Amino acid sequence: MPEIRLDKYLADAGQGTRSQVKTLIKQGRVKIGAETAKKPEQKVDTDCSNVYVDGSMISYRTVEYYMLNKPQGVVSATKDKRDKTVIDLIDEDKRRDLFPVGRLDKDTEGLLIITNDGQLSKDLLSPKKHVEKIYYATICGTVTQDTIAQFEEGIDIGDDKPTKPAKLKILSDAEIDGIAKKSSGTDEENSDILSYVEITITEGRYHQIKRMFEAVGMKVVYLKRIAMGGVVLDETLPCGSWRRLSEGEIELLVTR
Ligand code: URA
Repeated sequence: MPEIRLDKYLADAGQGTRSQVKTLIKQGRVKIGAETAKKPEQKVDTDCSNVYVDGSMISYRTVEYYMLNKPQGVVSATKDKRDKTVIDLIDEDKRRDLFPVGRLDKDTEGLLIITNDGQLSKDLLSPKKHVEKIYYATICGTVTQDTIAQFEEGIDIGDDKPTKPAKLKILSDAEIDGIAKKSSGTDEENSDILSYVEITITEGRYHQIKRMFEAVGMKVVYLKRIAMGGVVLDETLPCGSWRRLSEGEIELLVTR
């Protein structure tokens, strides 16, 4: 029977940081079965103890799922000698076994799922599962109906095989306004023509989107992931912030 400290149990179950859950215990708001818990170091069984906070039963999760709005300048790794990592940004009393599901380039922003669920990560990244990843991109160049057709067809980016069909959508002005428009310079400063697109891919090749545009003579100047496997980036989440995934979002990912 896996027994752990009550404060760890509560923190792992998302009830707050270690110090916040210690306060809950001190305030007499935590019960184990019918007994009010007295000490944070009290042992509980993760399989069969019934733990309540303010009268509501808490379910213990051994797997955790976070949504991070990744900022530029941070690397998608668990440890790095030089740069801040996406795991460093999860600034609560976190588990040590968290990792990002796949990678975004250092200069790419947006949705990154962080978990300790190895099976889920494997499934989401498996080429066989064709998990859709949707990105917003600012492109230096003129994206046309021809470009859309080329992306739909598959692009030779120098790998063994061309890319799988990708959906490319040219965004209307209204759609652009709804998304944080950003590029290496303002439109006025940029002498080249910029195009604003949404692109959906089902693979995860190295620098895939940048290489796809390069192959058709254009350059990605800003890239942000806005959805993965049906989970959409919470736009109320400021760049660099995170939150736990909701039960509904976890469901979307695990029942694929
Ligand atoms: N494609 C890229 O080129 N970079 C990313 O970070 C993600 C997809």
